[in-house]
Amino acid sequence: MFEHNDPNRIQLNSNGQLRHFLTTEGLSRELLTEILDTADSFVDMGAKQIKKMPLLRGRTVVNLFFEASTRTLSTFELAAKRLSADVLNLNISTSSTSKGETLKDTLMTLEAMHSDMFVVRHADSGAAHFIASQVTPHVAVINAGDGRHAHPTQAMLDMLTIRRHKGSFEPLKFAIVGDILHSRVARSQIHALRTLGACEIRVIAPKTLLPRHIEAMGVKVFTDMRQGLKDVDVIMMLRLQKERMTSALLPSESEFYKLYGMTTEKLAYARPDAVVMHPGPINRGVEIESAIADGPRSLILDQVTNGIAVRMAVMSMAMSGQMVEKQLQQSASAAH
Ligand code: NCD
Repeated sequence: MFEHNDPNRIQLNSNGQLRHFLTTEGLSRELLTEILDTADSFVDMGAKQIKKMPLLRGRTVVNLFFEASTRTLSTFELAAKRLSADVLNLNISTSSTSKGETLKDTLMTLEAMHSDMFVVRHADSGAAHFIASQVTPHVAVINAGDGRHAHPTQAMLDMLTIRRHKGSFEPLKFAIVGDILHSRVARSQIHALRTLGACEIRVIAPKTLLPRHIEAMGVKVFTDMRQGLKDVDVIMMLRLQKERMTSALLPSESEFYKLYGMTTEKLAYARPDAVVMHPGPINRGVEIESAIADGPRSLILDQVTNGIAVRMAVMSMAMSGQMVEKQLQQSASAAH
């Protein structure tokens, strides 16, 4: 595990603007709202025939993926291209030993190619913070998922999807369902929802898939779907992270589906206008019934579309935060 203390010392510039995007934890409501407002303006652009704008023209973005991904990698790639950046995709599988060292070598090589931004996905919690602390100043780092720790762009695309469908967060009750224990998505969602003023946040899972002391994050804990879903407006399903399960935490997938899978029957426990979300990839018949995933209450494909807009927003904001920081430093050294 890498260190990831005090995220905002590193992810904000001296003016309090985003220069890296590593976690939703500790960011202000104003900043999260600025990300959503910026992303909103890009959503409509995506529907136009000509989708490009020049905000990252002449910049080089490197997607540095140490862990497999389809939708996150492809939406980051499209986002960078729609901002007119040059994009390099690197899939690097990690060896289990001396990761720190390997990572440093990789970074030095990529910096020698004059990269301006790294989008990082890594199996170790804290990897994106580590990279942000190692890169030369003026290179922006965006966390595309680190271990169980954080997946901030996923959380913000979920927030954008909710705001576009429901208008605001304050009156709403949320339930996050499934493998909370291994989920970086759940952690980032909880931080964002709290900051944006959600009325109530619940987690619903079997005891074996709940982290200890999860209540300390400000959520209500349920192990029963009927009770947990009562009066809920937004249901956020999670994928079972089998690749992170080191011991048998589940009796069987069919037992999990029976108790926690989102089915037509269980959806009836929630409010009649409740919507269902899932970050993907979905396991049909394990976490969610096809009739729900493909049905009118599902926002799963909106999440993918909104993902491009959110990624364009944080990439352009971080790049301009880095430029402002550079100017501040130049004027500070000129004054000496
Ligand atoms: C999530 C991830 O990788 O953390 N997926 C994604 O980004 N589309 C969720 C998951 O894999 O379960």
